[in-house]
Amino acid sequence: MSSSSPVAATIVIFGGAGDLARRKLVPALFDLHRFGHLARETVIVGNGRSVEDDAAWRASMKAAVAEFGHDTPLDEAAWEAFSTRLFFHRGDLKAAHDLVEMKARLEALEKERGLPGSRLYYLAIPPSAIAPLVVNLGAAGLVHPVETPGPWSRIVVEKPFGHDLASARALNDEIHGVFRERQVFRIDHYLGKETTQNVLVFRLGNGIFEPLWNRRYVDHVQITVAESIGVEGRGRFFEETGILRDIVQNHVLQLLCQVAMEPPVAFEPNAVRDEKVKVLRSIRPQTPEEVLRDTVRGQYGAGSIDGQPVPGYRQEPNVSPASLRETYAAWKVQIDNWRWAGVPFYLRAGKRMPKRVTEIAITFKTPPIALFRKTGVLTQEPNVLILRIQPDEGIALRFGAKQPGPTMKVDTVKMDFRYADAFAGKTHDAYERLLLDALHGDSTLFARRDEVEAAWEHVTNVLDVWRGNPPSDLPNYECGTWGPEAAMELMARDGRRWRRP
Ligand SMILES: NC(=O)c1ccc[n+]([C@@H]2O[C@H](COP(=O)([O-])OP(=O)(O)OC[C@H]3O[C@@H](n4cnc5c(N)ncnc54)[C@H](OP(=O)(O)O)[C@@H]3O)[C@@H](O)[C@H]2O)c1
Repeated sequence: MSSSSPVAATIVIFGGAGDLARRKLVPALFDLHRFGHLARETVIVGNGRSVEDDAAWRASMKAAVAEFGHDTPLDEAAWEAFSTRLFFHRGDLKAAHDLVEMKARLEALEKERGLPGSRLYYLAIPPSAIAPLVVNLGAAGLVHPVETPGPWSRIVVEKPFGHDLASARALNDEIHGVFRERQVFRIDHYLGKETTQNVLVFRLGNGIFEPLWNRRYVDHVQITVAESIGVEGRGRFFEETGILRDIVQNHVLQLLCQVAMEPPVAFEPNAVRDEKVKVLRSIRPQTPEEVLRDTVRGQYGAGSIDGQPVPGYRQEPNVSPASLRETYAAWKVQIDNWRWAGVPFYLRAGKRMPKRVTEIAITFKTPPIALFRKTGVLTQEPNVLILRIQPDEGIALRFGAKQPGPTMKVDTVKMDFRYADAFAGKTHDAYERLLLDALHGDSTLFARRDEVEAAWEHVTNVLDVWRGNPPSDLPNYECGTWGPEAAMELMARDGRRWRRP
């Protein structure tokens, strides 16, 4: 969390009454207020068509913070103070004159509060509304040019950032028609998680791990993002998206970058992002045959989770009964650079898995000589370092140890570090950290244009091959299992197997 003094600014949430604002943004802003990270003058202005006025928005946000916030029961005094920062400007972001009216309202509020006019525009709106809003912000004179000293204007853009490479490029072009790159904050909330940031600290803030972090010692890497939930009423969205776009293009590839990137020359935005882009550009391009060989699509059929029966994907509301949309994806990726040549990265993401878990597992090579062979110890499990991103955040190392007793028997044991044990007290939500960084203008944890496009380039290649080769075996895994048989075969072919986290 940034330690510099609070920045006086106006925060505008487009989509102020939407799900993201209710669940994440306003609860995070309330926490920033409670812990003294918001400047005294700062105001938060919601926008949308469905809320009547300031009072109605305050009441609805109070209910949201009570339901989704960390402060239970809600601290009434803190809420009262916070709610004086909240205002709602009703309007249609696609109507240019509504934005002109909003400008007048913002200027009046800023004058009243003694704010400089610096503004953070948070776009918690459907992807199709981003381009029209950006144009209208520019046309209404709501964007300060970066060249002029004084107040600044920045936008935070949510995922999904585009639907494929062409649409991501088009969206970037549209945004850059009004904003410069340093004003654009493309959010991936995984980067705001303490555990994701800790991957770099673990690697580069310690002397003993980084020397092992390369092809000489690492056999392979597995990255897993598993959810036990299904599509949770978002059938329509998921039918258009699928898990490769929704999770792999952003979260999984961001985790891959954290593990695989070279140490940046400094911990500052462009130095860090330069290294991430290099990783994405080093991913070996795949021919259609290689895509079909090295990826697996899955879709869940009916099954049970925690003993409770749950429906298959095709039975979910707003999902076609013949849907070919993937709810599981596995992908073997090769990074062709000096450090990682020959070390496969196995990526997987799935819904309706047995448990919710996100982890990175680094499996090391076995020792060169089986020294204990004569004593009956034939095989030894490789060392595995597990970086648990969520839940039960922490780091574990699995290694062999001699079982106590007169004979030589080796067992695998685990050294375990748990965040919850080591650091008592409040954990900060990813959105708190990211909102604060955006207010301070620090884009280290936000994706740059070339990074997003490089990720889409690989993902679009897979999507194109998949589209031309529709699967015939869906649904191919039961709810509550670790995915389709073909994914197990993908690993077995290489003499490896997926972890069961
Ligand atoms: N929800 C999450 O947990 C989550 C997580 C990650 C990313 N995201 C992304 O965040 C964005 C918002 O998601 P969401 O779940 O909050 O969606 P949502 O609940 O549908 O909210 C979208 C909001 O956009 C507003 N809006 C749409 N068209 C408008 C227009 N012409 N003028 C003014 N306001 C308009 C709507 O406000 P009115 O109805 O009041 O006009 C609505 O409140 C999406 O891009 C989504 O992919 C969401």
